[in-house]
Amino acid sequence: MILVAGGTGRLGKVLVPVLRASGSEVRVLTRDRERARGIDGVEVVVGDVRDPVTLDAAVDGAEVVVSAVHGFAGPGRVTPATVDRAGNAHLVDAARRAGADVVLLSVVGASPDSPMELFRAKYDAEQHLRRSGAAWTIVRSTAFVELWAEIMAKPVVLGRGENPINFVAVADVAAVVADAVGDRTRRGQVLEVGGPDDLTFDQFAALLLECEVATGKVRHVPRGVLQAMAVVSRRARAAVAMDTDDMTFDSESRGARPAGRAPTPARLALDQLQVA
Ligand SMILES: NC(=O)c1ccc[n+]([C@@H]2O[C@H](COP(=O)([O-])OP(=O)(O)OC[C@H]3O[C@@H](n4cnc5c(N)ncnc54)[C@H](OP(=O)(O)O)[C@@H]3O)[C@@H](O)[C@H]2O)c1
Repeated sequence: MILVAGGTGRLGKVLVPVLRASGSEVRVLTRDRERARGIDGVEVVVGDVRDPVTLDAAVDGAEVVVSAVHGFAGPGRVTPATVDRAGNAHLVDAARRAGADVVLLSVVGASPDSPMELFRAKYDAEQHLRRSGAAWTIVRSTAFVELWAEIMAKPVVLGRGENPINFVAVADVAAVVADAVGDRTRRGQVLEVGGPDDLTFDQFAALLLECEVATGKVRHVPRGVLQAMAVVSRRARAAVAMDTDDMTFDSESRGARPAGRAPTPARLALDQLQVA
């Protein structure tokens, strides 16, 4: 049985059917059973990675625990510190006690000195996992096309919008995670996954309009405004970093790729979003 923490999320909802199609039994961990409504053929367990007491029952009997949670945004007063750092540590410890392997979702660029709190917390989660004694695989991903399509449905560009950013289709990340779950030769490896496109936010906004995923006129929030907001806002700090830091990724040379699967161009991922 595979436990997917974050099985109700953007990635989780794509990953769960892939795991089931490969013949695995799947259990989904969620804080709210309602959010798992409509996910077919899975056992649902209620728990919170911030509350270790809820996790032993959740991991009981699991061969592999997938952590696809994050606390950057979302309901329930989450933060990267409580979910990505401490919550992942609790989940990893519970998995180790249960004898389960762990596949941890992290980010390309995770490092102890990243300007982004999320990236520092993911780095700490990776370090905790490496030291835990559990057998592990880390899957680091670039930015999801589908997340940014949702955020930019009204095409507001945060900052100058001239910094190239790598975007990956969620289905490509799910394929790498599913491979990592099933392939024990991947233990002890860090797999990085990205898409074929490095696009600036200006280019991404234009693509959203072309694919009719966004409507309206592209507007910019000036970088200076973001920098002022960054004093108090985690999201503004992240936006400044995305507008200035190196967010590119060479998926040709660095990207993990499941057999027979070419990276999905952002345009195709957006077209598929329209069909769905
Ligand atoms: N989105 C991106 O661009 C991106 C890029 C790189 C890496 N990643 C990583 O990929 C993974 C999936 O991201 P996503 O965009 O699919 O996430 P998402 O759609 O925002 O979903 C977040 C998930 O985290 C769960 N969660 C949050 N706090 C929790 C807590 N305290 N206890 C238990 N579960 C909790 C939520 O479950 P409930 O609400 O049901 O409890 C939900 O399933 C994450 O690890 C993320 O860091 C994402």
